[in-house]
Amino acid sequence: MARRLTVLGTGYLGAAHAACLAELGFHVLGLDIDPVRIDRLAAGELPFFEPGLEEVLRRGVNSGRLGFTTSYEEVAAFGDTHFVCVGTPQRSDGYGADLAQLDACIDALAPLLRSPCLVVGKCTVPVGTAEHLSQRLARLAPAGDAAALAWNPEFLREGHAVDDTLRPDRIVVGTRSERAVAVLREIYAKPVAKGTPFLVTDLATAELVKVAANAFLATKISFINAMAEVCEATGADVTMLSEALSYDDRIGGRYLGPGLGFGGGCLPKDIRAFMARAGELGVDQALSFLREVDAINMRRRARMVDLARELAGGAFENRVVGVLGAAFKPNSAALENARRAHPCLEYASSALDAARDAHIVLLLTEWPEFAELDPDVLGKVVTERNIVDGRGTLDPERWRAASWHYRALGRP
Ligand code: UDX
Repeated sequence: MARRLTVLGTGYLGAAHAACLAELGFHVLGLDIDPVRIDRLAAGELPFFEPGLEEVLRRGVNSGRLGFTTSYEEVAAFGDTHFVCVGTPQRSDGYGADLAQLDACIDALAPLLRSPCLVVGKCTVPVGTAEHLSQRLARLAPAGDAAALAWNPEFLREGHAVDDTLRPDRIVVGTRSERAVAVLREIYAKPVAKGTPFLVTDLATAELVKVAANAFLATKISFINAMAEVCEATGADVTMLSEALSYDDRIGGRYLGPGLGFGGGCLPKDIRAFMARAGELGVDQALSFLREVDAINMRRRARMVDLARELAGGAFENRVVGVLGAAFKPNSAALENARRAHPCLEYASSALDAARDAHIVLLLTEWPEFAELDPDVLGKVVTERNIVDGRGTLDPERWRAASWHYRALGRP
């Protein structure tokens, strides 16, 4: 009989992981403390936007292999391998990670673990958390040491969640338990058979792989954005610079895209939590460069506002600003969240509606719809033809030829 797995926490990571495990043929029960979310998932409805995932979720639910619950008792009775996918957001009072959800989850699950089982942490945590959890688990679980812990970080990107989950670049398993290694090798047998490297490490290394990967990606993005600042001071073009660098195999072009910088639920909070943890460990100097990476990233946003103000003639009073893109990257839905966060702004569902009557247009997300815009068509709905390209997506010559004042980050 196929292995029975549970997934605790059905946010972005958990919902994707649960649905993809069912797609791999396992019987899966997902748990969340939010009953509304659980009802929607059980009805095959994804509570957020992620290309392709709703189909995978529906297939799982319709096959009978994928179910959802709010009951820890059901979870403990359902299977013997429990994936922990709860959120670890930035603390409201500092840079560190808030582990309240993780602690609550372990505290609720552990006392119900009466027979040998495996708890697999997938969320991003400060290094050292897993060691602490493994002790807590052994103490709280009636099964004692037979409730083993493994850390198996996820690397999924929004917009690519299905692919990144079913065909990951690598699978990292940190654990002291040989049984855990055997179980996870079996669960990930399909991607491993297709060549995905499977690395077994200690707990701390597994935790670090995730934050180190995100720190590296953030550094690469901020590197090219630092170059953009230099380009702005010298009249050089960072888009060409980035392309020229990318042909060096040692550098590579991925995550070297200049622009507004990185946003989203992971990179910003993860580099901050990493710095905070390094401080606790007494190695803050080792990561002090991440402070600069963060600062460069934040400066790009300020620079974008400065460019827009310049084009607006020095001030925004009585100027209409049309914004193209609310999401931190394409294929991620942000409009409803933006509406909640900034209820005083007006919202539109097409580029032409957003730009109507604008004195300045700001391109903030490189959706294909925006990249393919016709400057003449957009020019007909605006009051003045001013555009700031925050993602280096548009062809400056084409827009200038259509009488637009075109400005971009890091471009002359
Ligand atoms: C990231 C990591 O890629 C993923 O491995 C981890 O599990 C979670 O964090 P995600 O936040 O979904 O994933 O987004 P990603 O595609 O990495 O992009 C992050 C941000 O960087 C976006 O705002 C994007 O616009 C920006 N970015 C990316 C750049 O500014 N330039 C680039 O070249 C690439």
